[in-house]
Parts: sequence; structure tokens; C-alpha cells
Amino acid sequence: MATVQDRPLQGRHILLGITGSIAAYKAAMLCRLLKREGAEVQVVMTQLAKQFITPLTMATLSRRPILVEFFDPENGQWNSHVSLGEWADCYLIAPATANTLAKMAGGVADNLLLTTYLSARCPVMVAPAMDLDMYAHYTTQRNLEELAQHGVAIIEPNSGELASGLEGKGRMAEPEEIVEALKAHFSEKKKPLTDRHFVVTAGATIEPIDPVRYITNHSSGKMGYAIAGELARAGARVTLVSGRTELPVPAGVERVDVLTAEEMYEATTKAFAEADGGVMCAAVADYTPREVAASKIKKSDEGDLTLTLRRTKDIAATLGAEKGGRVLVGFALETDNEQAHAEEKLAKKHFDFVVLNSLRDAGAGFRGDTNKVTFVDAAGSEELPLLSKQEVAVRIVERIVKILSK
Ligand code: PMT
Repeated sequence: MATVQDRPLQGRHILLGITGSIAAYKAAMLCRLLKREGAEVQVVMTQLAKQFITPLTMATLSRRPILVEFFDPENGQWNSHVSLGEWADCYLIAPATANTLAKMAGGVADNLLLTTYLSARCPVMVAPAMDLDMYAHYTTQRNLEELAQHGVAIIEPNSGELASGLEGKGRMAEPEEIVEALKAHFSEKKKPLTDRHFVVTAGATIEPIDPVRYITNHSSGKMGYAIAGELARAGARVTLVSGRTELPVPAGVERVDVLTAEEMYEATTKAFAEADGGVMCAAVADYTPREVAASKIKKSDEGDLTLTLRRTKDIAATLGAEKGGRVLVGFALETDNEQAHAEEKLAKKHFDFVVLNSLRDAGAGFRGDTNKVTFVDAAGSEELPLLSKQEVAVRIVERIVKILSK
């Protein structure tokens, strides 16, 4: 007898979005296969998609009325994009045209299929279908990358003969392949931080003195980026508030770019309000120039130049004061009296634990690919050997998972 494991789509609510591509004819077979796997299928089509496959065909196969417009002009019945998004366990857009992908990446919501995308809280998968040059075009590739960075799963198109007669990559994946991708998605073991949202700060802030000069520090962002990537791999939604860096955004992570400590404060407190926790890895300026000169400060042949600096807001302390039941992890970068300073920060900023790194340890701290850290919490300390920043990130995430599972 078939078990739930064998039939991961049994009883799942699949919202099937169909856009105006010649590959729309494959949506009929796709719908059939999904139904055969025991899924409930609700079809949403664009106006153009109706030119390629009839609503009657899709309604017959899905055994549900097809939704195209925001409301039915006959009886005024409202098709709520919010309810559709809530109903769905997965929103699968197949075929997804270059036009729809561009609109999704740009937040355009000019039809029911797109507004539903904007309000969907469930996982979203797209199966692109288009001509090879459209697929290879930098705008399409940029849009796909953007969507993937925000967690949309891309079911890669195949290479082969295209409707245009040309040969190349752009053919929508076959219905059987799409169903396999969905099955794999639903049979994946639940990751430990699925449904959790974390905010990570990373990198150095930049405090302008005048249009030419600024105050900063040596943070490259590597440690924070490794943590963000590891949290995402553990299933969390991650908002990475990042100072200036050349590093690529880790897969599945949403990055917010900031420059100054004030901007980092604004972005982090905003994201933390809706998060389950935070990891404060950024090297934030503690002081910023009181005045930023509007034009370049000219040197004078005599005397010193005095800059007056004022305190910045302490982001971690602010979050700590209002953290409630959330997890908050802090760093302590020290050069002396390490343990005492880390313990002080643990208490003062209400961290669950502090990741202490000291510039006295070889291979620790800024820029390199390794770090040597000690975890400090209310129960004591755990010293780790010299590890790659990636491995340190894994250990941090393991600790977070343990705290959340208590
Ligand atoms: O980016 P890399 O090159 O990989 O280097 C990694 C690192 C050395 C920057 C990282 O391992 C590290 O130690 N980050 C914290 C650096 C720091 O500013 O530590 P701190 O001891 O000054 O601050 C204590 C804590 O308060 C930190 O969590 C810090 O992010 C936070 N803080 C500090 C000041 C401020 N205004 N707001 C804050 O949130």
C-alpha cells in the first residue's frame, strides 16, 4: 500500500499559474499528473494564456472553475488573491514567460496571477518557457537570479527544438519533470529553521567626514555572510543587513545594503520587528563625525584638524532591550581582557550567547577565511579551535537551533 512518503503531493493545494506561452498546452498534462498524485489544483491564468489553452480544458482537468480576473463581471464575485495565496501549499507558475518573470522580479501586479504572487506566503516555483535568445538575454537572467535570491525555485528549462524552429535552451521542463520537482520539494525533510526569520548584520559601516573621506574598519563581511548562508541552508528566511562589500549574496538570502551605522540601525530594527532572532556580526562604528562637511575639507599648513565625533546608536543593545522571546546572538571583538569584556556585552546587550574573537589569536577576526572563537553564555564558555568561517557559522547555527528547540 502506498504511504504518505510515496505520495508527497497527496492532499496538497497546488495553485497552478499559467501564462501566455505556446508551452501552455503542457499545463493540461501537468494538471492531470498533479491530480493523479492526489493534489488539489486551482488554476489561475493570464488573459493571454487563454489564447493558448482554453479555460474549459483546464477547468475540466482541475475540476475547479478557472480564475483569470479579479472579479466575475457576471455576478461580481471577488477572486481574492490573498485567500488564494493562503490556500496554496505551493504556487507553481508553469509556463512562466519572460514577461511574467520580469514583472515578478519588479513587483508589478497588473493581473490576478501576479497579485497572487505578491501576496503568496507559500513556496513559489516557476518553470520558464521562451525562445533561446529571450532566455539567454541578460534581463531574463538577471530577473531569474533576483527571484532565486528571494527564494523562488526555478525549474530549469530544457534544451532542444523550440516553437520558433530554433534549437536551444528555453523549452519548458516536461510535466513529468515538474511533478518530480514538486514531489522532491514536499518530501524534503523539514529543515530545523523552516518558518523562522533571522536578521544578520555583516561588514563594516562607513561614516562620512566630507564627500571624500570617511571612517571605517577592516571588516570584510565574510563572517556575517557565512552565517547568513548557513541560516538559509537550515531553512530560515534571512535578511542580511550589509555594509559595503564585494561578496556575493548567499543563496536564498535577502540583502539590504547600508552604508552608515544609522542606516544599519534603521534597517536592522525594522527587520527585527518581524523576526524570530538576530545575529549581530557587523563591525559598527561606535562614533560618527558630528558634522559632515558639505565640501572637501581643505588642508592648512599650520595646526591640527580636530574632528568632533558623537556616539552612534547601539543596534544590538536596542534589539536586546526589546527582544522578548527572540534569540539574539552577539559578537565581541577584543584585543585584551577578552573574557571579561565578552561577559559584560552578554549581560548589557541581553545576548543569548556571545561569539568572542580576539585579535591576539592568529587566524582570528577580520578579512581572513578562518576564525578562532569562544562561545560565551550565562552557563560558561566553550572554546573552539581555529576553524574556517564557514565551519564557525555552522556551529553558531547549531547553537541557535538548540536554543529554539528548548
Ligand atoms: O567581516 P570579517 O572580515 O569576516 O570579520 C569578522 C568580524 C571580526 C567583524 C566579526 O567576527 C566580529 O567580531 N564582529 C563584531 C565586531 C564588533 O564590532 O564587535 P564589538 O565588540 O565592538 O561589538 C559588540 C556587539 O555589538 C557586536 O555584536 C556588534 O555587532 C554590536 N554592535 C556594536 C556597536 C553598535 N553601534 N551596534 C552594534 O550592534
